[in-house]
Amino acid sequence: LAKVEVDLAKIPMGKNVIIKWRGKPVFIRHRTESEVQEARSVDWRSLRDPQPDEDRVKKPEWLIMLGVCTHLGCVPIGEAGDYGGWFCPCHGSHYDISGRARKGPAPLNLEVPNYEFADGEGKVVI
Ligand code: FES
Repeated sequence: LAKVEVDLAKIPMGKNVIIKWRGKPVFIRHRTESEVQEARSVDWRSLRDPQPDEDRVKKPEWLIMLGVCTHLGCVPIGEAGDYGGWFCPCHGSHYDISGRARKGPAPLNLEVPNYEFADGEGKVVI
């Protein structure tokens, strides 16, 4: 299976990058402290796809997920929407800073792929 290695040192805090993995976009966000706090302050049990932020990341500052809207597969836009995360322009789904579906037709949170940190955690292998 094809793996892709990403150098995390090149992604400043507060920035998103998009890489390609098996033909799909993968979003990597280097979250700030306040973004992590925001993601963790949400009452996740009340969400439509209930999931705590802690279960969506391996390290709090690195949010890694497929950039494929769970409604019908468009690519959401980063740093957009009503919840400080992503917005899908196709039919108006809003995702929060943990990639969880918060508003609009998306039924599920953005999917988290399998990945590992490598090289003293300076890299991620997806
Ligand atoms: Fe994203 Fe429909 S494909 S809202």
